[in-house]
Amino acid sequence: MNSSATGKPRILTGDTPTGRLHLGHWVGSVKRRVELQDSHDCYFIIANMHAFTTRSDKADEIRRDSIEIVRDYLAMGIDPERSTVFLQSEIPTIAELTFLFAMLLPFNRVMRNPTLKDEIRVKGLGETYSFGFPLYAVGQTADILSFRPVAVPVGEDQVPHLELTREVARRFNQVFCAVSDQTEDDDHPAHGGVFPVPRAEVGKVGRLVGVDGVNKMSKSLNNAIYIADSPKEVQKKVNRIFTGRQSPTEPGDTTNALFQYVDAFIEDEARVAELKDRYARGDNIGDGHIKQEVGAAINHLLDPMRERRAKYEGSDRPILEILRSGCARANRTAEETLAMAKEAAGLGYFKRELRFV
Ligand code: TRP
Repeated sequence: MNSSATGKPRILTGDTPTGRLHLGHWVGSVKRRVELQDSHDCYFIIANMHAFTTRSDKADEIRRDSIEIVRDYLAMGIDPERSTVFLQSEIPTIAELTFLFAMLLPFNRVMRNPTLKDEIRVKGLGETYSFGFPLYAVGQTADILSFRPVAVPVGEDQVPHLELTREVARRFNQVFCAVSDQTEDDDHPAHGGVFPVPRAEVGKVGRLVGVDGVNKMSKSLNNAIYIADSPKEVQKKVNRIFTGRQSPTEPGDTTNALFQYVDAFIEDEARVAELKDRYARGDNIGDGHIKQEVGAAINHLLDPMRERRAKYEGSDRPILEILRSGCARANRTAEETLAMAKEAAGLGYFKRELRFV
């Protein structure tokens, strides 16, 4: 069953812990996840093992980032009662399926993955990357298929990983479950396949430009507004957004970086229309004024997040408790999947039970 006892369809997505979450994460993915909690059985993976592919010398940092990301999730409204938030490293099924799936994929097929190639280039990994680095792409197919979700909400950059995942699911079902190669993707489970062939659900909103007004918001470019920033820091950063406009009477471009923020954060649509109209005409409206409204709108969004975050500041204990129960719940689903997969692959020798002590 790829849905919960309540009959809600199951989805899975997640993040590699690389630092605090910012407004780009909110706009690009977390907002959608918060909404999906009502209609779906949601699994959110913290891909902490993946962080080791390029930062194995920074285990302490990875641990800190993993806890911090949960604080940000909670602040943004992910509800651990309804959604399962868990650590990749605590799910043995993922490691086991990674090994099995690696046998189903031609080596060169994995290396052709454009997201891997991009990362090798962008991060300057050259020829020195670990064996585990390309293996993480196979690992991501196991992250996903361990939970047999119907869909995976992701950004555009993750689509190649989803294609690989869909290929693994098809191949497994064909090799071990006698599903025909003529079977439609959506029919795999009904035709005896252990795995659904999960859809990539690529969000419409995509990306938020950083406060430099040029690049995508990102930690490494120093152009991000963090969920944990103070109201003052937020306004200061918003004031940095560069437009190049000279005066309040100069007709402005309502597709510039500042207006991307107006569109993303000012909720009152009539007000947005009015601002655009006056800006386009140069009707005595300064960038400084618009930045004040944008700053206020962002702070209005962040206020309840700050309040929720404050409750989890200080001790890691409550975060670890949330992760413990999330991991336990995730393991129940994943162990069920592993048992089915092993049975299908002729590896169903003994039953086992997994529990934290
Ligand atoms: N690779 C994803 C990223 O860096 C994180 C991730 C790991 C993920 N496993 C996943 C996303 C499974 C979706 C599904 O953003």
